[in-house]
Amino acid sequence: MIAVTGLVKKHGPDTILKGISLRVQKGEVHAVIGPSGGGKSTFLRCINGLEQFQGGTVQVGEHVLTPATDPRRDARLLEAVRRKTGFVFQPFNLFPHLTVIENVIEAPVHVLRMSREQAIERARTLLDRVGLAAKQDAYPRSLSGGQQQRVAIARALVMEPESILFDEPTSALDPIMAGEILSLMADLAKDGQTMIVVTHSMSFARNVAGQVHVFADGLDVECGPPSRVFEEPQHPTTQAFLTKTAKD
Ligand SMILES: Nc1ncnc2c1ncn2[C@@H]1O[C@H](COP(=O)(O)OP(=O)(O)OP(=O)(O)O)[C@@H](O)[C@H]1O
Ligand SMILES: [Mg+2]
Repeated sequence: MIAVTGLVKKHGPDTILKGISLRVQKGEVHAVIGPSGGGKSTFLRCINGLEQFQGGTVQVGEHVLTPATDPRRDARLLEAVRRKTGFVFQPFNLFPHLTVIENVIEAPVHVLRMSREQAIERARTLLDRVGLAAKQDAYPRSLSGGQQQRVAIARALVMEPESILFDEPTSALDPIMAGEILSLMADLAKDGQTMIVVTHSMSFARNVAGQVHVFADGLDVECGPPSRVFEEPQHPTTQAFLTKTAKD
């Protein structure tokens, strides 16, 4: 479903991603963990076509992005990639002037050209699913951070993406709300939603993900099933990172 091969990303003289390869099959959940600045967010942004890159390929379904992909010339290709990969990130980025349900139907109506009635029906089902049926006419400012993040998840799901990329979706939330969002994400995983999740939650990586990747200094230094990565970390960076997170 997603195949990244030898991904290299540079910012000026700095090489941010130094040849990352990763394959995600339908229904799999991959967690990406690792120290700050390791390139996790940059990696997700390259998959979603939000960043150009200098080496390797990113394949999403039948679509292939390469260093030659040009945001102006290849706008359609990038749109196709974004339609297959939903993106949920730390700031919720809801439209403040739109109600919850209007936020959710915005893209289906304007991008998919779905009828308003059909979009509303789909949005109601999803708001119910994320536990916000009662809030459909509320404005984002009247919601808690956790509720806003649920709207953002409903907004990603409404497009029926093949996979969803999460970039630290709980880091702006207090522990209780973070737990609620993580358990919603675990439910999505159980239902077979393909996901790549950049997370600081070691319990999510350990209990929900099928594969864990440790990114450090632009490399995927260690990957494998969580039981292996957490119980028998091979790489010194993983060992140091896990010792540190255990103390946090
Ligand atoms: N636009 C940019 N210009 C220059 N350097 C950048 C840019 N964006 C990111 N970087 C650098 O790339 C590196 C990786 O950043 P990235 O945000 O991908 O890390 P991260 O693993 O997501 O970190 P965190 O856990 O703190 O979110 C960092 O050293 C960062 O300073
Ligand atoms: Mg990041």
